[in-house]
Amino acid sequence: MNIVILTGAGISAESGIKTFRDANGLWENHAVEDVASPEGFSRDPQLVYRFYNARRAQLQEVADNPAHRSIAKLINYCKNSTKHHAQLITQNVDDLHERGGLKDQDVWHMHGELKKMRCQKSAQVFTSPLHLDEKTLCPCCHQAGNLRPHIVWFGEIPFYLEEAFSLLNKCDLFLSVGTSGFVYPAAQFVSMTPETCRRVEINLNDTQISPVFDQHLTGKAGDILPDYVDELMEGLS
Ligand code: APR
Repeated sequence: MNIVILTGAGISAESGIKTFRDANGLWENHAVEDVASPEGFSRDPQLVYRFYNARRAQLQEVADNPAHRSIAKLINYCKNSTKHHAQLITQNVDDLHERGGLKDQDVWHMHGELKKMRCQKSAQVFTSPLHLDEKTLCPCCHQAGNLRPHIVWFGEIPFYLEEAFSLLNKCDLFLSVGTSGFVYPAAQFVSMTPETCRRVEINLNDTQISPVFDQHLTGKAGDILPDYVDELMEGLS
């Protein structure tokens, strides 16, 4: 069986990281276009560095939850199986899936990663210090001022799209967890699965893409996923 799991901010909500669209369009008290767009970064780089430094610092105060751990259990089970394949694609920039039991290479962070920075000249990606700013020296060009957070901002192209499209084409089970279905192209993934695919949405509420799913499990991901994954794995074995 080919399984694709798409996660969004809702899966980390129980860990204490705020979601995006439940707070009047503001992200941690900032207009999204100020802190999550190339234009916002050119206008006020210091604000943007400060904002992501705070998000990165927040990661030290939170922990993965049962939903992250259940997904890791499923993916690791499939890694040891010759019959099944499961891939996680996350819109989240936190590292809670990794802390929940997955290896870095098992998590496709389509919107980037808080713990990484990128040289704007060479496009090389590095681990970010906790505090990144315009004075941080770039490990590749040894200059200051070239580094930015390794985050996909509005108007930029997400990572892993081609890989995702090719998996979605042959997907048998598509699991969407804690995402509002507002942001494309992730919101479109469910519609790219074949007709034979079972599409399951786990969310606190209905979303604008709910009608495309075959099954809705309403509630907290951390309450639903542990039993859901155990049952699924029984069926896989
Ligand atoms: N369990 C399940 N779902 C939850 C939970 C929970 N405990 N808590 C909240 N949710 C749901 C909400 O009902 C909502 O539908 O998670 C969803 C979170 O939606 P958004 O805040 O819009 O987050 P997301 O879908 O990940 O946003 C996509 O938008 O600005 C960006 O780049 C950013 O990756 C992000 C993208």
